[in-house]
Amino acid sequence: MLRLVLLGPPGAGKGTHAQVLSKRWNVPHISTGDMLRQALRAETKLGLEAKTHMEKGGLVPDEVVIGIVGDRLKENDAKQGFVLDGFPRTKEQAESLDALLQGQRMPLDLAVYFKTSLSVIIRRLSGRRICSQCGKTYHLSNFKSKVEGICDDCRGPLMQRPDDRQDAIENRLEVYQKQTSPLIEYYKKKNILEEVSGDLEVPELSASLKELFLRKKLVGC
Ligand code: AP5
Repeated sequence: MLRLVLLGPPGAGKGTHAQVLSKRWNVPHISTGDMLRQALRAETKLGLEAKTHMEKGGLVPDEVVIGIVGDRLKENDAKQGFVLDGFPRTKEQAESLDALLQGQRMPLDLAVYFKTSLSVIIRRLSGRRICSQCGKTYHLSNFKSKVEGICDDCRGPLMQRPDDRQDAIENRLEVYQKQTSPLIEYYKKKNILEEVSGDLEVPELSASLKELFLRKKLVGC
């Protein structure tokens, strides 16, 4: 059982490591960014509502994301735990999550903050490519697809996320600083915040997370 929140700036590697942890712990990886992008690809009402906010690098309104996370956490697989990636992102979202988990007597085990330097963030975001069909993430130098521009899994064409362009990156970093970074203090006050270096390469950061879970006596790591 693991109930985990991953915090950190855009490009810190939250999604990459959430996937690894989700497999290792056999709990769902719940990414609001992925859920919203999926809705966008499917052109649902939610996707169309989220589109303008996401492309400019702004936040989708709290009530919308709180609603989708609330529904997702009620699903059976989340009863055994979860890795939340990209949620919460505002104090309102954090408070709603607390209220929801308290109601189910399932408090969070840990919030892990991926502290990451600006130069690393820029390098990761500008080189990231995603599959336009299945959403799988690659990087032009770190995680290349086997055939350039084509997804290894579904053969879909790779594309740059619209919010990984320069002007949107600047906006996302500003939004992160103003609205999301205060959550570091929020979880520190609750005594569940731990910090790792988001600058590390994937194997080193994975090892650092493993060491953290062992130290916290969280089983299954
Ligand atoms: P979201 O998709 O959550 O974006 P984000 O938080 O900005 O995070 P990123 O996906 O950019 O970065 P990441 O930390 O997951 O890095 P990744 O592992 O991909 O949200 C997108 C938008 O949706 C938001 O801007 C907002 O509009 C909306 N939204 C989402 N949630 C919301 C919410 N709760 N409230 C309101 N609005 C919301 O890695 C990046 C790249 O680096 C990849 O190419 C990867 O291959 C590479 N990489 C990763 N780790 C490493 C490493 N250790 N070493 C080397 N390369 C690495």
